[in-house]
Parts: sequence; structure tokens; C-alpha cells
Amino acid sequence: MKAGCVYLVGAGPGDPELLTLRALRLLQQTEVIVYDHLVSPAVLDFVAPGAERIYAGKRRNEHTMRQEQINALLVRLARAGRQVVRLKGGDPFIFGRGGEEMQALAAEGIAFEVVPGITAACGVSSYAGIPLTHRDHAQSCLFVTGHLKDGSADLDWDAMTRPRQTVVIYMGLNALGEICRQLIAHGAAPTHPIAVVQHGTIANQKVLAGTLADLPQRVARHKLTSPCLIIVGEVVQLHDTLAWFHPQTDSAPRKQPAALQPVSA
Ligand SMILES: C[S@@+](CC[C@H](N)C(=O)[O-])C[C@H]1O[C@@H](n2cnc3c(N)ncnc32)[C@H](O)[C@@H]1O
Repeated sequence: MKAGCVYLVGAGPGDPELLTLRALRLLQQTEVIVYDHLVSPAVLDFVAPGAERIYAGKRRNEHTMRQEQINALLVRLARAGRQVVRLKGGDPFIFGRGGEEMQALAAEGIAFEVVPGITAACGVSSYAGIPLTHRDHAQSCLFVTGHLKDGSADLDWDAMTRPRQTVVIYMGLNALGEICRQLIAHGAAPTHPIAVVQHGTIANQKVLAGTLADLPQRVARHKLTSPCLIIVGEVVQLHDTLAWFHPQTDSAPRKQPAALQPVSA
């Protein structure tokens, strides 16, 4: 039997144009794909028509498969000699549990390869017109998760309120009010800029920008839904001038490259 292998592939934040060439090639050749809830339907359109598709879930509070079951499934498929694409939203090694899955494969002596993807912080901020660093505003950038543990976001608030820095918060929508309160309690000005970007890089992208004092109420009024990325820092002010992606108002279709083939010499 031929040896199986698992390709841990980052699908990017949603727009399929943000797939890497390696990801696209693997999607088009794979025999079986195991994918998460966060992978956009437009990305799945690029999967080889005959490939077996296995949904592993991972929506908040709705884990279709437990992590151990996913690990065991990948091991089983590879042991059966299958070439498996394990497809995850964004980058598999940024809040994606890709490390745990590869550890499980390594422990069983199964071959694997990791294909990075554009993480939400990079893709979503670009499409929102918010540069994460900028000489006048931020010299460093922090990625954190706002996922609530026992009802409270257990974060390093002092590190998050350092000046001249941008903080990107993944999985923070439900904790937004608590996050803004804690940042103010730890010294950030109530007027400090913050934005929430819903469904970044795809047709229903929505950006709400405001301050630590007013954004939670506005987000609640607009009833934003997951996935949402939170960006905190002076760079958020640049959104007004740098926003370029307006999928709901643009009538002109985006230019597509003619073919995904290298230009021959
Ligand atoms: C479990 S984490 C996975 C992150 C992923 N591995 C990455 O590198 O982007 C899921 C969180 O990523 C953020 N996210 C992913 N895609 C997004 C998108 N298109 N728009 C806004 N936020 C997104 C949200 O904060 C979401 O709750």
C-alpha cells in the first residue's frame, strides 16, 4: 500500500484569491479533505470534484467532532494510504490547533507537511484598510485570543495597553464589552480607537470603527455575527482614508487573473 500523508493547509480568511499556490494545487489534487467550519464555501469550490469531503465542525459551542476524534481520523486516513488535506481557516498555526494535530501525527510516525495560510489578522486588516503597523502609530503588534474561559477573558491587560502598539483579538466578539472595560481599567483612554471587522475579505464584510467607550453598544445594535476580528490601536483611525474593499456597494466585478499557470519562458 502507498504511504499516506497529511497536508495541513491554511485556507486564508475567506476570499479564495488569498489561497497560496501550494494550497490551490493540493486542493485540486486531493483524495480526501477534512475541513473546519471557518473555511469559506468559495474556497471549497476549488476542491477536486471527486474528493471525499469530511466536515469536522468547530463552530463555537458546536464541536461536530472533538479534537481527539479529528486527530484519530487523520491518523486512520493516512494509515489507510490516503493523501489527506486537513484544511483550516486562516493559518493553521495561529489559534488553529494545527500544532496539536501535527503532534498526534508525529507520535504515530505519519508523514505531514504544513502549508501556511494568510491569517485573519493580516487578511482582514488589509481588506479593512487598517495597516497593523505604521511608523507614526504602532511599532509592534500583538495577537491574542479573547475566547472567554469561565465567563472571563483571562488576558495580560498590562501588555495589551502598552503605547504605540496594535492589538489584534481573535474570537473576541462575545467578550467585547469586557475587553473594552478592562483596557480602560488598565489605563487605556476611553477614546482609544478600536474596530470590529465582521466576515473580513468576503462579500458581507462589515467594519465598525469607534472608541473603547462607544464600540460595544454600536456592535450590539448592528448585531454582528461570527467570525469577527477586533483591532485595537491608533492605526484604526486610518480606516477612514484607506478603506478600499466595498463589496456591498461596488458594482464592478474584481479583475481576475486569466489563468493560474506560470508564465512560460
Ligand atoms: C479559531 S480562530 C482561527 C484563526 C485562524 N487560524 C487564522 O489564522 O485566521 C477563529 C477566529 O479567527 C477570526 N477570523 C477568522 N476569519 C475571519 C474573517 N474572515 N473575518 C473576521 N474574523 C475572522 C475570528 O476572530 C474568529 O473567531
